[in-house]
Amino acid sequence: MAIHEARPGEGAHALSLLPQFTRPGETGEVPRDRIPETGLPPDTAYQIVHDELLLDGNARLNLASFVTTWMEPQARRLMDECVDKNFIDRDEYPQTTELERRCVRMIADLWSAPADGKPIGCSTTGSSEACMLGGLALLRRWRERRRGEGREGGRPNLVMGANVQVCWEKFCRYWDVEPRKVPLGPGRTHLTAEGAVEHCDENTIGVVAIMGSTFDGSYEPVAEIAAALDRLQEERGLDVPIHVDAASGGFIAPFLDPDVAWDFRVPRVQSINSSGHKYGLVYPGIGWIIWRDREALPKELIFDVDYLGGEMPTFALTFSRPGGQVAAQYYNLLRLGREGYRRVQQACRDTAKWLASRIAGLGPFELVSDGSAVPAFAFRLRDDVRGYTVFDISAGLRMRGWIVPAYPMPPRLEDVAVLRIVVRNGFSRDLASQLLADLERVVRSLERTGRSYPEPQAIGFHH
Ligand SMILES: Cc1ncc(COP(=O)(O)O)c(C=O)c1O
Repeated sequence: MAIHEARPGEGAHALSLLPQFTRPGETGEVPRDRIPETGLPPDTAYQIVHDELLLDGNARLNLASFVTTWMEPQARRLMDECVDKNFIDRDEYPQTTELERRCVRMIADLWSAPADGKPIGCSTTGSSEACMLGGLALLRRWRERRRGEGREGGRPNLVMGANVQVCWEKFCRYWDVEPRKVPLGPGRTHLTAEGAVEHCDENTIGVVAIMGSTFDGSYEPVAEIAAALDRLQEERGLDVPIHVDAASGGFIAPFLDPDVAWDFRVPRVQSINSSGHKYGLVYPGIGWIIWRDREALPKELIFDVDYLGGEMPTFALTFSRPGGQVAAQYYNLLRLGREGYRRVQQACRDTAKWLASRIAGLGPFELVSDGSAVPAFAFRLRDDVRGYTVFDISAGLRMRGWIVPAYPMPPRLEDVAVLRIVVRNGFSRDLASQLLADLERVVRSLERTGRSYPEPQAIGFHH
């Protein structure tokens, strides 16, 4: 969450209730940053908050985010019905826990967990928490192994591409693990097998491979990375596990690319996370993590909570959470089935590829990716385009309501600035055509008038 300064006594700004919304007996102002002495009628309070929120962007037009912005009304109704349930109260809401258990089984099966194994997993608050849990299990296992070998000490490191999402940097900082980021380079926008192996040593707790890089939607070659790590084990005796961060691809690859081996079919893959609220198609607040078997999740990390007179094993960084997301995830899995998910994801991929190819045809752009993995793609201005930048284009699109982020690529590619479009369920071909027309208009206008937007200072993008 954003950290905000909260200076007492600086609540001088007021919210005006005048002139539009006065009701009998109600005039004047209420403080904006201080709790008012007396309250307001509910309609007035509603109107104030509602109006403040008008300044937020339109979620459906936010093509920056992978997170679901459209669900069926029935799913929304289920979420409303659960809004007062605290998911952590498992004794009181045992059926919500039961739905979580069923989802874990379904998702483990979706990710090819061995039928004779005992995969385990849980829901989380998005992939970020799931990644923390996956990283913690790797760290603990490394510590135990080193202790068993009588070789304690040494700073643990985690190997990953420089394109990782910020949650992995957080994991490393919070748990004092050295982030070993494998540099990118021209034509190399994500982790390669050679790059991963070169960075491993006896203190490597694991390699993170991403299915659906945040920057361009591309899949990292999980099976190749695993094969290279197999060779490393044969040659140097280092046994380095893989965690797959499938935040976006975990609900894409199984439906659209069943022949790509990235999941538990690859023996070195010990754990996988995905965001239920991305292509799992649920509104924000849910992620999933599954471990291949019990050995992959050290039991010291598991807390037992009282549950229906017995004990329930849990692993989480947070405590209270709404129960509605689990209900909505189960709804989607039942409602869509494999066939329905395939249809939705295929439609997203078709739209992404169509839009990418049209954008490539406009003239000034080169594709960095084409939407054929996760239905998201990045594109840049050709080197010979002068006079305006991708930041101008992003600002120009914003005037029509579209949110299309522009950002520099990660280190070693940072002189390449791109625009990225994420196609989600609900972004129809019709909306895509309108975006294309607006993009063309913005480009033609910039060609005539030149740039309008200052270079940004930020060098990162963390969606
Ligand atoms: C590869 C990757 N990992 C992790 C995350 C974090 O996901 P969440 O927003 O579900 O916490 C993202 C978000 O975009 C991502 O793309």
